[in-house]
Amino acid sequence: MKHIKNICCIGAGYVGGPTMTVIANKCPEIDVTVVDINARRIADWNSENLNELPVYEPGLPELIKETRGRNLFFSTEVDAAIDKADMVFISVNTPTKTYGKGKGQAADLKYIELCARNIAKVATTDKIVVEKSTLPVRTAQAIKNILDNTGNGVNFEILSNPEFLAEGTAIDDLLNADRVLIGGDETESGQEAKNALSWVYEHWLPKERVLQTNVWSSELSKLVANAFLAQRVSSINSISALCEKTDANVAEVSRAIGFDSRIGPKFLNASVGFGGSCFQKDILNLVYIAKSFGLPEVADYWEQVILMNDYQKRRFAENIITTLYNTVSGKKIAFYGWAFKKDTNDTRESAAIYVADALLEEQAEIVVYDPKVTAERIYADLDYLGTRTSEENRRLLTVVTDPLEAIQNAHAVAVLTEWDEFKSYDWAAIFEAMLKPAFVFDGRRILDSEKMDTLGFKYYKIGES
Ligand code: UDX
Ligand code: ADP
Repeated sequence: MKHIKNICCIGAGYVGGPTMTVIANKCPEIDVTVVDINARRIADWNSENLNELPVYEPGLPELIKETRGRNLFFSTEVDAAIDKADMVFISVNTPTKTYGKGKGQAADLKYIELCARNIAKVATTDKIVVEKSTLPVRTAQAIKNILDNTGNGVNFEILSNPEFLAEGTAIDDLLNADRVLIGGDETESGQEAKNALSWVYEHWLPKERVLQTNVWSSELSKLVANAFLAQRVSSINSISALCEKTDANVAEVSRAIGFDSRIGPKFLNASVGFGGSCFQKDILNLVYIAKSFGLPEVADYWEQVILMNDYQKRRFAENIITTLYNTVSGKKIAFYGWAFKKDTNDTRESAAIYVADALLEEQAEIVVYDPKVTAERIYADLDYLGTRTSEENRRLLTVVTDPLEAIQNAHAVAVLTEWDEFKSYDWAAIFEAMLKPAFVFDGRRILDSEKMDTLGFKYYKIGES
């Protein structure tokens, strides 16, 4: 069997960085080079100060310390790294298209295509090309067409190896993966390529957790896994709305149904809505694919998961407005959390962005505190929506680095991310510093209702009346 000696990964983001760090750490005999066109990103990955890595993941700095410079390298020399490698991972971003055909639904494959063309241009030896970004079904075929028709006559095997890591637990998800999926051609050379990649993962995972499939199944499984997970969140969120109108408590309902071993307890936490770079994008992709194969019922079915998520974010914002006597104009609302979930600095599709946008439309004054997200990122998220000018966003919304500063004279606190530190705050002191009545809207259900009531807060928790 072919043993891989040199790996190149194109794209040093949330996926490429941690994944390659773990591979290099577990496979000391393989040289792994992660390349990116973004020089600042590469500089940050090479930073002496391990708190400055571009991606915040528990456990990552320790692994980087052990591995970087040994057999793990970060570089902007894209072409040289590609040519040297016998296996090339494509791990570039695939945002949802913001223009043209499939706008708002299809994945934008611009970056993937550029990567494939670049590989074709510089490769002078045979390569196994692994698609690692989340991609619509059939992308492997598109990559293959580009490589075969524009390459220098060398042989390319294309594999699909979808990513199942969740942010904040990426290192643990990689080290103890439930499964690794490897899709490839059923030809002899395809089988060889699949075995070569399996061998890499088998350095630390038991053989039976490495599943080999055809390319279609592998590509589709990634979308379907995320669609099923997101569907569970939307399902419980739909029930949270019903619970708020009745005496039912969504946590009790989750617990009761989760005990059914066929349902299971995970991904049943009601929240202000799911975010992250994958769930919405992958479902939109599934919807687009179903439509393009003439299956509108299938498309509508999955689209509903997103519509329910939009409803949940809107409902949370509207509840704040109605509760604050139907006007938030000029009122100070503190946001605790901006990241799409705890333990990450990632804000892509975060519910906080949409809740803030809805409140800013009503002229609220928002003060954001998030332990990991920068002001620059927060303004970029809002400006990207294009709802108002960037000057207006900066006038209405401020970002602070002290959680107590955020709530001085605030009318309300909205909890948007479930950061652990929020639970241990001195809520009595927070109550003192706020205007009365002091409202707390808990979009993550992390605070204790009884305690908050005793302290004097008007406390609203998603999924409870
Ligand atoms: C997800 C998938 O879990 C992962 O396998 C895939 O590779 C990428 O997409 P990620 O986006 O990092 O990972 O986060 P995840 O932990 O799945 O959470 C997604 C969103 O759902 C978050 O906003 C989270 O707060 C929300 N969520 C999750 C809930 O609201 N309730 C839950 O019970 C679980
Ligand atoms: P993900 O969550 O999928 O890892 P990110 O946006 O965090 O997405 O990372 C993708 C990275 O890919 C970015 O740092 C971007 O600069 C890089 N990238 C995009 N296109 C190319 C390319 N053609 N060559 C090298 N790097 C690229």
